[in-house]
Amino acid sequence: MPFSFKCAAFLCGISLIISINAAAQDGTPAQPLIDPKQAEKAALGNILFNDTSLSSPAGQSCASCHKPDMAFSDGKVVSEGANKAPGVRNTPTLLYAQFAREFRFEDWRRTWAGGQFWDGRSDTLAEQALGPLLNPIEMGNTREALATRLRELSYTHLFEAIYGKEVFASDESLLNATADALQAFQMTDTFAPFTSKFDYAQRGLVELTEQEKLGRRLHDGKASCIDCHSGMTGDKQLFGSFSYHNILTPPNVNLNNGIPDIGLAANQS
Ligand code: HEC
Ligand code: HEC
Repeated sequence: MPFSFKCAAFLCGISLIISINAAAQDGTPAQPLIDPKQAEKAALGNILFNDTSLSSPAGQSCASCHKPDMAFSDGKVVSEGANKAPGVRNTPTLLYAQFAREFRFEDWRRTWAGGQFWDGRSDTLAEQALGPLLNPIEMGNTREALATRLRELSYTHLFEAIYGKEVFASDESLLNATADALQAFQMTDTFAPFTSKFDYAQRGLVELTEQEKLGRRLHDGKASCIDCHSGMTGDKQLFGSFSYHNILTPPNVNLNNGIPDIGLAANQS
């Protein structure tokens, strides 16, 4: 990693370096696409995603913070964990998160790109999924407590049908299966609907107004929004880069006892 970049990251340490969170540079998902059990896994993942018994104390599911009717975000500055403690970061949308590739340094644009979380610290949705379940200020489980809870679920037969009996042989395999199912759910079209007016216009189903066409020309041209809000998957536009841009957001002194979040700078090796 070039020294100059690290310097820049630390010099501007008080301003959070964040990612545009809605798109991959080339739209290639980091996760495997062809899996004969994908649909069953996604169905199990959907149940797990909404299961409020998986937090400690019980009462919070993934959907409590990633609300389906709010683009899988929650509209709050930061959300509260299962034990009511305030979090330290804003809940991102999960829409189009499946298009993030692994976290890496890209020489061609001399920046970090990819990864899940605001600092890219998880490479895949599966790796990410255990984060909130085991995070003390989110769903608050230990690995053992979570595994015990999973063994008690009324739908353990679904785990068995997909992953076989051996999934219950160890806590690790059970946790990995849980992460795998949550990932499969987050890979479905529910999380990549492409149903905006823009998407319909791209498919020739509606016509943009003159004002909207002007906005698009500005976005792609003089206003340079496209410099950061680029990225495609196939022929579909994602309006994000899945990379990291310092847009000089000031730190929120009301969070984390006033200790600034250095974001990406904490995740450079
Ligand atoms: C207490 C609220 C809360 C709960 C519960 C929660 N999340 Fe999150 N989620 C967050 C926050 C906050 C972040 C950003 C954290 C960071 O960057 O360090 C996040 C980040 C993510 C991301 C990364 C998205 C991206 O584009 O970077 C994914 C994926 C995700 N959560 C999925 C889940 C799943 C699956 C569950 C349930 C197992 C879950 N979350 C439960 C608040 C929550
Ligand atoms: C230097 C890179 C850069 C440029 C240029 C840029 N943006 Fe952004 N934009 C960002 C970043 C970073 C965010 C924050 C993403 C986040 O917090 O999820 C953002 C967020 C946004 C959001 C909010 C998205 C959301 O989901 O909340 C909108 C809307 C937006 N930009 C529009 C524009 C427009 C319009 C232009 C051109 C006039 C533009 N941006 C130019 C980097 C840029």
